[in-house]
Amino acid sequence: MPERSAVTAPELARKKARGERIAVVTAYDYPSAWYADQAGVDVLLVGDTLGMTVLGYSTTLPVTMEEMLHHVRAVMRATPRALVVADLPFLSFQTGDDEAVRNAGRCLKEGGASAVKLEGGVKVAALVARLTGCGIPVMGHVGLLPQSFHQMGGWKVQGRRPEQARQVLEDARQLQEAGAFSVVLEAIPAELAREVTAALTIPTIGIGAGPDCDGQVQVFHDLLGLFPHFVAKHTRRYLEGGDLVCEALKRYADDVRSGVFPGEENTWRQPELEDAASWKS
Ligand code: KIV
Repeated sequence: MPERSAVTAPELARKKARGERIAVVTAYDYPSAWYADQAGVDVLLVGDTLGMTVLGYSTTLPVTMEEMLHHVRAVMRATPRALVVADLPFLSFQTGDDEAVRNAGRCLKEGGASAVKLEGGVKVAALVARLTGCGIPVMGHVGLLPQSFHQMGGWKVQGRRPEQARQVLEDARQLQEAGAFSVVLEAIPAELAREVTAALTIPTIGIGAGPDCDGQVQVFHDLLGLFPHFVAKHTRRYLEGGDLVCEALKRYADDVRSGVFPGEENTWRQPELEDAASWKS
């Protein structure tokens, strides 16, 4: 078995205390996890964004527990160092605490992940306390909650108005109180994220929450230009991967059609078989 996990959930709070920023990226399969781990990313989040980035759904809502576990297992096979966090998909934890404990437990028992993430603040604080009481490390997620896409009226920045901002701060505080080891802040103003970060001892991990969070999380396919449909404002593309992949595949298709591929270097030869009459009869 490979040596596992230089990065642990408690280590993230120590990083915050030391003023070290935390790099988080989503990973959904063996190669994405392998490269992210080799690159020294601290935390790999098997996010339910996989529904959009690799399964082609238009939101994260259709993702099932079975789909999540399938991807968590693939990520675990590739990840000797980073902390792997499994996202709890829509309706895997909202339908009752027993069901939530079972599903979170499956991420650790069957998936091999080291922690789970779930969306929501005050409303899920009691559940977070129960999960952490079972020994399951929990990453919270406040601000924009993609699983509440319809209720929020789309992917909209949250916490712009003072009463909303107070709610986001309270959500994050209660998650910390309930034992969460860190909390994702999604799509909130940078000023609010800075206040939340200062108010907590657990690290905040921002996505569209400005530069003052303790860490940042980005979607693998966004960073590498592999999501064809839109570029979110919070994304910086480090590679135009889609263009590179398309160009390479076009060259391959052209080479097949023109007979340039496969070349001699891709081909096994057996000179005795040159004379078909000697072996076909
Ligand atoms: O599902 C996901 O990938 C996420 C991140 C974008 C934070 O929740």
